[in-house]
Amino acid sequence: QDRLFLKGKHVLISAGPTRERIDPVRFFTNRSSGKMGYALAEAAAEAGAIVTLVSGPTSQIITHAQVKRIDVVTAEDMYQAMHRHFPTSDIVIKAAAVADYRPRVVYDQKMKKHDGDWNIVMERTKDILQSLGERKESQYLVGFAAETEKPIENGMKKLEKKKLDAIVINNVADSGAGFEGDTNIVTYMNKNKERKTITQAPKKEVAHQLLRMIKKDLKDEEQ
Ligand code: PMT
Repeated sequence: QDRLFLKGKHVLISAGPTRERIDPVRFFTNRSSGKMGYALAEAAAEAGAIVTLVSGPTSQIITHAQVKRIDVVTAEDMYQAMHRHFPTSDIVIKAAAVADYRPRVVYDQKMKKHDGDWNIVMERTKDILQSLGERKESQYLVGFAAETEKPIENGMKKLEKKKLDAIVINNVADSGAGFEGDTNIVTYMNKNKERKTITQAPKKEVAHQLLRMIKKDLKDEEQ
């Protein structure tokens, strides 16, 4: 098999969580470690791609020497960075866990505690993947779906709604899959509803197999 199967392709990947500030010392975030997205970036670089990785705040992860990393904090930062690099990309993969909501008000000073409850009003962030789907030209756009119930059904809905070329569905309620761990279990589904499941494997191996499936679909489209 051709080891450099993505040679010369521009691949744009997002990884990790976003952080939505409340005040200078507090924020909302989620459990994403960035491992899945970084594994994809590394596997794509090893396959000869020119890789740009847009990363939310993660810790203790080594970035492959050939990967250009752009660090972002909030969903809005990630939106800007993804859109900036989208036009020159061939393949775009959104493995990041983006906040769907952020505090409507961000305080300049640390909030003092007081007796009683603290209610924080949350507003929607932009759906980055959907906005990329609407803008898409020749890019092959791949989303992820983190589901805890009816994964295939819900994943398929996201594929259609966000105008994706494919979606990678992980049931994050399964042990050995999803957030934080070193392995994942995923189902790759393309827009023709052809799907293939990758059984539990290290995230790097899952990444490699996903890239092969994406490449195959791209090749089929080009013919
Ligand atoms: O980082 P790890 O610890 O290794 O964990 C990996 C993972 C579980 C985070 C990863 O495998 C995964 O599933 N990533 C997607 C998580 C997610 O936010 O899923 P979702 O079903 O909520 O979102 C669907 C898709 O829309 C995702 O591609 C997401 O990046 C995108 N999205 C969501 C909200 C938003 N405002 N903008 C987006 O682009």
